[in-house]
Amino acid sequence: MIDLKFDYTNALEVISKRDIFDFQKEINEHYNSLRNKTGSGNDFLGWIELPDEVDNELINRIDRIAAEIRSKSNIFVVVGIGGSYLGARAVIEALSNSFSQLEKEDGNPVIVYAGQNISEDYMVELLKVLDNNDYSLTVISKSGTTTEPAVAFRILKNHLENKYGKKEAKTRIIAITDKQRGALKQLADEEGYETFVVPDDVGGRYSVLTPVGLLPIAVAGFNIRELLDGAIKMKSHIESSSNINENPVWAYAAARNALYNAGKTIEITVNYEPKLYYITEWWKQLYGESEGKENKGIFPAGVGFTTDLHSMGQYIQDGLRNIFETVISVKKPNYELKVPMDDKNLDGLNYIAGKPLHDVNHMAETGTTLAHIDGGVPNLRITIPEISENTIGQLIYFYEMGCAVSGYILGVNPFDQPGVEAYKRNMFALLGKPGFEKETEAINSRLSN
Ligand code: PA5
Repeated sequence: MIDLKFDYTNALEVISKRDIFDFQKEINEHYNSLRNKTGSGNDFLGWIELPDEVDNELINRIDRIAAEIRSKSNIFVVVGIGGSYLGARAVIEALSNSFSQLEKEDGNPVIVYAGQNISEDYMVELLKVLDNNDYSLTVISKSGTTTEPAVAFRILKNHLENKYGKKEAKTRIIAITDKQRGALKQLADEEGYETFVVPDDVGGRYSVLTPVGLLPIAVAGFNIRELLDGAIKMKSHIESSSNINENPVWAYAAARNALYNAGKTIEITVNYEPKLYYITEWWKQLYGESEGKENKGIFPAGVGFTTDLHSMGQYIQDGLRNIFETVISVKKPNYELKVPMDDKNLDGLNYIAGKPLHDVNHMAETGTTLAHIDGGVPNLRITIPEISENTIGQLIYFYEMGCAVSGYILGVNPFDQPGVEAYKRNMFALLGKPGFEKETEAINSRLSN
């Protein structure tokens, strides 16, 4: 049984139930073409069966290697970008203590990230921290040729070898890459690194339930079986209920497409729990890279409330009316803290004394939702009972399937990303990469004009 619920009733001032249910037939067809692999991008559908297919042997191996890393590292560096980075970070941050970097007592290594930018300052500051700590790293790249993680890995490998010597360094590097191809695969084979495979038929942004996400999540101390179990629950639910009324994924895909057709071209994912910040970042990549093509697509944005009510709140309430919101609502916090009574009551807050802080947060959520509806911002709501491995697993599969079906409704291939190549070509030309001589000439003349 799934715990995740989806509610579109607060969007019904802008779209009708009819608008939503009109998608039923189309959704059934798209789901069938996903299952039968007859739609576009059909060589990248391995994520559909993934939750059931990650077998015990793989889980045990991940847990064993994670335990080895944990026993000798107080920092674990995850090197990767895009889909080879965001899923792990989303899950780890959602499940971690908000101050885990300062919590030395919990026995978990601190997880840090590299290769998701090319900032010199970031890298130098990271190396200084690594000078003074025991660490291991994983380098994750499906293609094995992405510039950002490749540069970061070259620097970190060098640092690791200088710190521990070549032999020990090799035991502290885990490569996650393609089964056969790419520079990283070749390097891993030659150096004898422990290696995990990114399945051929799973694209980066759908890969969080492969070792790409599972290894870092296990090293961080979380239960990957529970995460997978959550995804399995969502998958079975989708298989058993094809009706939009019963299937939250179909309701989400239908509602957001109905809103898009009504001119709401920006979807803002909203959380009231700062731990979910990177879930939104992961979702932005998943939906942005999957849908934003052929001059179409809902623009995915994200805010964290109540923080951003004091910045973006004005625009959302009052700006251009082309947005809708999807709130990820968490029913129960993991702790309890009540607002204390204060004899002097100078801040005037005694009217909420004795209330759990979560109730105050929840009232802020309800109040904001109503205000935004009044301001012409339709509101969709995903509710999970609490933040746990299991509910995050459900949410991951919910979003993945919702994205695939939404992309098909939009009429695009949700599994490619041709637009990502444009900046790379220019960067290679500017850096003088061999093989890019013509582009270098063209770009230099463009810049000199
Ligand atoms: O979703 C995607 O396919 C991309 O975001 C990739 O994950 C990202 O570009 C990194 O690619 P790679 O894993 O090949 O280094």
